[in-house]
Amino acid sequence: MRTLIHGGTVVTANGSHAADVLINGATIAAVGRGLEATGGDGADKTIDASGKYVIPGAIDVHTHMELPFGGTFAKDTFETGSRAAAWGGTTTIVDFAVQSRGKSLREGLDACHAKAEGTCAIDYGFHMIMSDVNDATLAEMDALVAEGVPTFKLFTAYPGVFFSDDGAIFRAMQQTAKNGGLIMMHAENGPAIDVVAAQAVAEGKTDPYYHGVVRYPIFEGEATNRVIRLAEAAGVPVYIVHLSAKEALHSVRVARDRGSAAFAETCPQYLLLTLDDLGNGFEGAKFVCSPPLRPADHAVELWKGLAKDDLQVVSTDHCPFDFVGQKDLGKGDFRKVPNGLPGVENRVDLLHDAGVVGGHITRERWVELISTAPARMFGLYPRKGAVAVGSDADLVVYDPAARHTISASTHHMNVDYSCYEGREVQGWSTVVLSRGKTIIENGAYVGAKGDGRFLRRAVSQDYLKVS
Ligand code: URP
Ligand code: ZN
Ligand code: ZN
Repeated sequence: MRTLIHGGTVVTANGSHAADVLINGATIAAVGRGLEATGGDGADKTIDASGKYVIPGAIDVHTHMELPFGGTFAKDTFETGSRAAAWGGTTTIVDFAVQSRGKSLREGLDACHAKAEGTCAIDYGFHMIMSDVNDATLAEMDALVAEGVPTFKLFTAYPGVFFSDDGAIFRAMQQTAKNGGLIMMHAENGPAIDVVAAQAVAEGKTDPYYHGVVRYPIFEGEATNRVIRLAEAAGVPVYIVHLSAKEALHSVRVARDRGSAAFAETCPQYLLLTLDDLGNGFEGAKFVCSPPLRPADHAVELWKGLAKDDLQVVSTDHCPFDFVGQKDLGKGDFRKVPNGLPGVENRVDLLHDAGVVGGHITRERWVELISTAPARMFGLYPRKGAVAVGSDADLVVYDPAARHTISASTHHMNVDYSCYEGREVQGWSTVVLSRGKTIIENGAYVGAKGDGRFLRRAVSQDYLKVS
């Protein structure tokens, strides 16, 4: 099957140029002008991209389908969540397998494989959440690296659930110094947060708003600095997930300036939503995530961080819970609201609209943040994240002028509300291809359950250096 995408502007992290893209089977066979008249002759299918961008399929390296959390499960399954991702121009997700306390990494990984296999609309990989660090799990890390799961998330937050102390984190980092893996850190000072949260509840401050108040930005800044220092001591790179606070960004900037291999992602919610969204009584539960939404001045710094490469990736941390029936577990005590927001479908458009149209970043940087950098950082490049001969034909024909309004009544995520309800955005994925197969065409899903394959990932040590 040969498909020709013609007449568009190919936008990559390196530049933009008018070019056609010829796909042969699952990979890109040629990129250049005038393919229509040469190698494109005889294509089985042609896609007109006039007036549109042709970009590498977006890669979301932080999703939580069916995550067990706060006494319930994130609502999207791999099937529903990966399909919603496709609608939004994302052709690869990297989700988190979870090691439950007392169980092996293997059990957690196998359970996730079982859930995802044969159900995903797009290609997928896994990171591993480590809840226990001990001799057995450290040894298991080596095996996971070898089988394409080379990235491990640890937490300085959530005492009693996912929390690891500094010694455990340091041991895991030492292990990655030997096996080439990468530690991803949820960096907030969980024990200190718990003290302030208990004090707030004792004073009757139980609304979701206080979730945002008690998780001080300084607790994120302190933990970020601490884990970066631990990584320096272990001699390994470290990746900070879902960075939200300017104090944490400062820790990353200072570290990078001294030559530390510190990397970080942020998410659309930290760029576009604020602490105020947590107000309005229990409605604020719709916006409870950790780290929490911050006052507006933090986003100003995050945008600068994205433009200057202090932050390298924008992911979603997609972790949806229904407002009715799940978020309401926290009525009367914000500590019991399941933490997480939906977003896998909206990232590409939100970052295009607010970032590119809004003038914070170029369209090339947009592509880098949503596709190329995550591909490079997480061992998928150049198979993914590129519009280049030999790369997987994961491509999006993107209309940079089309406008649409985000709403729970039209989105495809399996969740009963949207954090961006009524927000009009400019930019839309009109055609989405996954390994050469069209899966979204003009708003319709035309793929099939199980199109997506598991991706064995490598860790690119070359990329994980500060330039
Ligand atoms: O609130 C969040 N972020 N929920 C998902 C779990 C995590 O910490 O990433
Ligand atoms: Zn986290
Ligand atoms: Zn997360």
